[in-house]
Amino acid sequence: MTTGAFLHPYAKPTRLQTDFIRVVRGTGSTVTDSAGKTYIDAMASLWYANVGYGQPSIADAVANQMHSIAAYHCFEPFSNEPAEAVCERLAQHAPFANARVFLTSSGSEAVDSAMKLARIAQVRRGHPERTVIVTRGRAYHGVTYGGLSAQGLPANQEGFGPFVEGVVNLPPDDIEAMALFMAEHGHTVAAIMTEPVQGAGGVFPPTPDYLAGLRRLADQHDTLLIFDEVICAFGRLGHWFGAEHFQVTPDLITFAKAVTSGYIPLGGVIANRRVCDALESDPNWMLRHGHTYSGHPTACAAALANLDIIEHQNLFARAPQLGDRIFDGFESLQRDGLLREVRREVAVGATVLAEGRDAFATRDALLHAGVITRAVNPETLTWCPPLVITDKEIDTVVDALSVALRS
Ligand SMILES: Cc1ncc(COP(=O)(O)O)c(C=O)c1O
Repeated sequence: MTTGAFLHPYAKPTRLQTDFIRVVRGTGSTVTDSAGKTYIDAMASLWYANVGYGQPSIADAVANQMHSIAAYHCFEPFSNEPAEAVCERLAQHAPFANARVFLTSSGSEAVDSAMKLARIAQVRRGHPERTVIVTRGRAYHGVTYGGLSAQGLPANQEGFGPFVEGVVNLPPDDIEAMALFMAEHGHTVAAIMTEPVQGAGGVFPPTPDYLAGLRRLADQHDTLLIFDEVICAFGRLGHWFGAEHFQVTPDLITFAKAVTSGYIPLGGVIANRRVCDALESDPNWMLRHGHTYSGHPTACAAALANLDIIEHQNLFARAPQLGDRIFDGFESLQRDGLLREVRREVAVGATVLAEGRDAFATRDALLHAGVITRAVNPETLTWCPPLVITDKEIDTVVDALSVALRS
């Protein structure tokens, strides 16, 4: 009995190798483990498998790309067609005109890139004094140092300091606190950054007009607004981006996860003209930021095939239907006194368990029943099903939670 060599992410380093569930296969909304047990995945893995598992067109697109050129870097003077095509496609669907797209391999890299692009854009537009990035409590922006510093979840930060300078975290839903801060320090702010719906912090939709309030403050103080859409984009809120759902337009959008539904890691930042004009203002200036895999052609080929599925199967329209079915079901459990709270926004949500119930034990009971959820703290389970989940599978998930909470 050993831990094995794999040091797992977000896990106790002492957990035995044999205690992990080894996932070996997936199809639709289900995954199967090495013991042959099949689960309905009501979390789309880690908020990303919007098209579900086992999509042959993505596997074929990846294989075809690998047969021609699996990878080649995109630092000047190189480029490749899949990277250009995926950026064009994302720019076309961005909520602002003539956007450009910077590519990464993860959400954390996307967040760090957005923070760096905001700061460098301020420098390029003649405002080097604007360095501060303002974020919210309960925010999750990933684990590399920029995003970790920007997070509003202290447990994740414990022991990892010191953090990036010039990052300020304010109370999560308090537009007055933001307005006060901006009134005093707005002239030093490079950008305000927020998730449209706070996800990993426990799924908190914004309070009414909060996002519009951030847009107003950013405009008043001539600063940038970043939406971290690593969870919200690509159909999760029924649109390409959460910005459309909330009808608030940011200057920069980070994305990752469902851009490929996780088949190959990919992330990035979409920038509007305000940012791009600053970066393009001097033809001799060079952007000294980029990852080895920024524009990885195989990841981009996976993205194109994945976005085809989202568009052709109109998963945008399916999101609100499945959201209503699962969260209406959970609300009926709340009326029965089994849940304290149900928070939801289209196809993502959270259930807060009744007093005395432990979310980790309930997660384990659900696993036993063949349903995957995520316990983000001792009282909260989160829900983010693949957008291809069937009504029957949703009903099984709701029934399984009902049984687990009644036992
Ligand atoms: C809003 C948000 N930003 C950033 C990240 C980090 O992404 P990654 O884990 O791909 O680095 C996540 C991951 O869950 C996220 O939800």
